[in-house]
Amino acid sequence: MKKGLISIGILVGFMLSILMVSGVFAKDVIEFNPSYGKVTFAHKKHVDLKIDCMKCHHTWKKGETSGKLCHECHKAKAEGKAISAKDAYHKDCKGCHEEAKKANKPAGPTGCTQCHVKAKK
Ligand code: HEC
Ligand code: HEC
Ligand code: HEC
Ligand code: HEC
Repeated sequence: MKKGLISIGILVGFMLSILMVSGVFAKDVIEFNPSYGKVTFAHKKHVDLKIDCMKCHHTWKKGETSGKLCHECHKAKAEGKAISAKDAYHKDCKGCHEEAKKANKPAGPTGCTQCHVKAKK
């Protein structure tokens, strides 16, 4: 009986780890490391703000919880219709923060070095 419970525990743990690796669960915090300075993005916090997944993951269909990530389409330079990663992130991240600020709502940072933290030398 006890042995059975342990193996169920191991099985559940194994399945959870597969889900994590396959990206079904997003990391709580995602870090970007552009040369201009590291950006720390609290993904979970933004989800908790009740921002629709599709506001950012604009190519996913309603209800989808995984799919292609920004960098797979938005590269260092604009390609085809897809704007560069820098423009895409600035437009989304900084854009939303700026709009919220204008509307006097709680907003994220809009200043360059509030988002980009330079590595201390
Ligand atoms: C405020 C914007 C924003 C919102 C809202 C958002 N995401 Fe994300 N998400 C991102 C960014 C940015 C990345 C990193 C993409 C990259 O590195 O190219 C990401 C990455 C992910 C990943 C990849 C796994 C990982 O940890 O790297 C998953 C899965 C994901 N998001 C799911 C969701 C789901 C599900 C929702 C809605 C409940 C959601 N996201 C809402 C911006 C957002
Ligand atoms: C499957 C490819 C693909 C993925 C994945 C993708 N994009 Fe895009 N994105 C595009 C294309 C193509 C355009 C230009 C055409 C359009 O607006 O749909 C675009 C446009 C944009 C724009 C400009 C919209 C406007 O109003 O001008 C922003 C901002 C943007 N993407 C941000 C993001 C972010 C942030 C992510 C990840 C959370 C992401 N994109 C993921 C392909 C993609
Ligand atoms: C649709 C709106 C929206 C988008 C898109 C968005 N944010 Fe935010 N962000 C917010 C709001 C609202 C807050 C303020 C939360 C609070 O303090 O209550 C915030 C807070 C933050 C903070 C400071 C709070 C913290 O503890 O982390 C950072 C840093 C941040 N955002 C980075 C980003 C980055 C990077 C992106 C793009 C990948 C992004 N945000 C996209 C709305 C947005
Ligand atoms: C809300 C957060 C935020 C703010 C504010 C912000 N950035 Fe960014 N920036 C990002 C993110 C996220 C990226 C994309 C990183 C990546 O592609 O990995 C980025 C990318 C860049 C890049 C490209 C770096 C590279 O090596 O390719 C430069 C340069 C840059 N930002 C400069 C600025 C400047 C200058 C300002 C102020 C006018 C600014 N950023 C404000 C979040 C922000």
